[in-house]
Amino acid sequence: MKIQQNISIIGSGKMGDTIISGLLRAGVASASQIIAADPSSKRLDYIKERHGVRTTINNREAVDAGDIIIFCVKPQNAENVFTSVSDRVRNGNIVISIMAGVTISRMQSWLPDGSSVIRVMPNTPTQVNAGMSALARGSHVSESQLKVSETLFAAVGRTIVLDEKHFDAVTGLSASGPAFIYIIIEALADGGVKSGLPRDVAIQLAAQMTLGAATMVLETGKHPAILKDDVTTPAGCTTDGILALEEGGVRVTLIKAVTEAAKRACELG
Ligand SMILES: NC(=O)c1ccc[n+]([C@@H]2O[C@H](COP(=O)([O-])OP(=O)(O)OC[C@H]3O[C@@H](n4cnc5c(N)ncnc54)[C@H](OP(=O)(O)O)[C@@H]3O)[C@@H](O)[C@H]2O)c1
Repeated sequence: MKIQQNISIIGSGKMGDTIISGLLRAGVASASQIIAADPSSKRLDYIKERHGVRTTINNREAVDAGDIIIFCVKPQNAENVFTSVSDRVRNGNIVISIMAGVTISRMQSWLPDGSSVIRVMPNTPTQVNAGMSALARGSHVSESQLKVSETLFAAVGRTIVLDEKHFDAVTGLSASGPAFIYIIIEALADGGVKSGLPRDVAIQLAAQMTLGAATMVLETGKHPAILKDDVTTPAGCTTDGILALEEGGVRVTLIKAVTEAAKRACELG
């Protein structure tokens, strides 16, 4: 579904670029509806060349041009960026932040009273329309504003509306998670190579298998442990592999990866 509103991206780094890619690829907005801002003119040249959207070095100009303003800067820059544009935020604008750790109440304190603020935690697979985005709504957000924001992120993957108290955990799991999974895919492919597969074949097998396993969890609704049991024939090969995984402490390691990333998200705020 195409939305009618104009979208401003404030901060055109990795995630700004990812969101623009995803929105255009999904057809939820056209290039003429999007304006991207960044301090680096070199970066803006790249964004313009890649996506054909309008660009500006001036955040205030970008805010003026947008109905939906998506802040994609680092949490460390949040206060400075918000306060420098807050007088340009108009009644009816939807202010979306994807910044880790920066709470809705802090953002509201930098914006005019009654501003509609939605916090979203997306991830990089948004770029290929396979993102996972959690949304939390501020107190001044109307149903229709929440709906249009969900439409925006649903076009580039799955969405879930959650209470803001869960956002550090979401950051540690689904926002940082792709990095954990890339390492797992790389390591699985290394195992394939060690067992004699060519590298490109091993990577393809590992990636498609990961996609398939994730799709099984989502589409069957079965608990992962039951799906794991389905693969594990008595005295077969998989149990030997599982033994090696457990000896390596894979569960504890992954649990710690998520909780450490969540802890850092909390510190950044
Ligand atoms: N990376 C992820 O997977 C991910 C996932 C979910 C959420 N997030 C959140 O997304 C946000 C951006 O992350 P990222 O990975 O995209 O970082 P990034 O690549 O560093 O992008 C941030 C961009 O903002 C620019 N910027 C700096 N100061 C600015 C200002 N005053 N006005 C406008 N733009 C400014 C930066 O330019 P310079 O480089 O020239 O300073 C950079 O291009 C973070 O808050 C992060 O918590 C990231």
